[in-house]
Amino acid sequence: MSDLRQRLEQLRADAAARLAAATGAPAVEELRIGLLGRSGKLTALMHELGRAPADERPGLGQLANAVREEVDAGIRARLEEFTAGALDARLEAERLDMTAPGRSVRIGHLHPLMTVERDCREIFHAFGFEVFEGPEIETDAMNFEALNIPPDHPSRDLWDTLYVAEPGSVEAGDPRPAEDGTILRTHTSPVQIRAMLALPPPIRVITPGRCFRYEAVDASHGFEFFQVEGLVIDRTTSLADLKGMLEEYARAMYGGRTRTRFRPGYYPFTEPSAAFDIGCLVCGGDGCPACKRSGWMTILGSGMVHPHVLRAGGIDPEEYQGYAFGMGLDRMALLRWGIPDLRLLMGADLRFLGQFPGGR
Ligand code: PHE
Repeated sequence: MSDLRQRLEQLRADAAARLAAATGAPAVEELRIGLLGRSGKLTALMHELGRAPADERPGLGQLANAVREEVDAGIRARLEEFTAGALDARLEAERLDMTAPGRSVRIGHLHPLMTVERDCREIFHAFGFEVFEGPEIETDAMNFEALNIPPDHPSRDLWDTLYVAEPGSVEAGDPRPAEDGTILRTHTSPVQIRAMLALPPPIRVITPGRCFRYEAVDASHGFEFFQVEGLVIDRTTSLADLKGMLEEYARAMYGGRTRTRFRPGYYPFTEPSAAFDIGCLVCGGDGCPACKRSGWMTILGSGMVHPHVLRAGGIDPEEYQGYAFGMGLDRMALLRWGIPDLRLLMGADLRFLGQFPGGR
């Protein structure tokens, strides 16, 4: 066997082995250039054919052609394999499932507290009340004094009120309440005064809003809470009007069969004053832990506007009288949805808040 024949056979075996071991299209291309390219190994052997002895040439030529065809076919087969594989992989990666359901867009909704507030607004709107809002940052004069709460009154105690510090006093290491009496309002009642000063009687307003108290936070207390205040001023407004109004409100809010009762109460800014109760929303009146076994729940404080308060609002008590009421919204929200802890309501966890879809 001539040397050339041996080398051809060697190359044939080599090429087959290296093709089989190639890991991708670029490797195959490299092999093709190395074997069949202008200075490829097979190309070089083909050139040597011309120098072979004449009697061996036809046989060697046949072999060389066979090897070339084999190598060529092998290369094409491998390339096809790789490109086909790559295409499959790409199709898989870019797969588009036209039958998949669309992804829903997340649309927000009112916070449960705002849902309750809006319900209040709607009910009172139907009774002819307009909304009159006041500032969350108030003055001592509005929050207390105008409401007939003298400086030594217990509800002005430092522990109830969040005071705004006198500018510079904190930095000076001597924090004290602002001299101009700026505080965070502890209830929405100061808006009674603002409404009386702003609107000519007769007045019929509700004033929803955020209030603040210096409270230790627990399941049923927050330092921040919401109230809706109501104020009606007219020449002949009586306690009977107040009772009728609140009973209608309770039926609109909690259903037509809601039981109600008035109890004597005390607020410095109303005289007489009354607490207003509804039959327990949890047990229906039988008595349970939620109503402390009484069967009743207090939902608001109310009364006839005190003459001192009317005067502070620029209204002549000889000519006009009125009633006022104030209720907390937070507990209403807790009761409506059976939420056990106020802090859940005040957190911003959408997994929780999203369970109470209200209006948008
Ligand atoms: N402002 C009172 C409170 O925060 C509620 C109230 C309002 C009572 C109006 C009587 C009249 O508890």
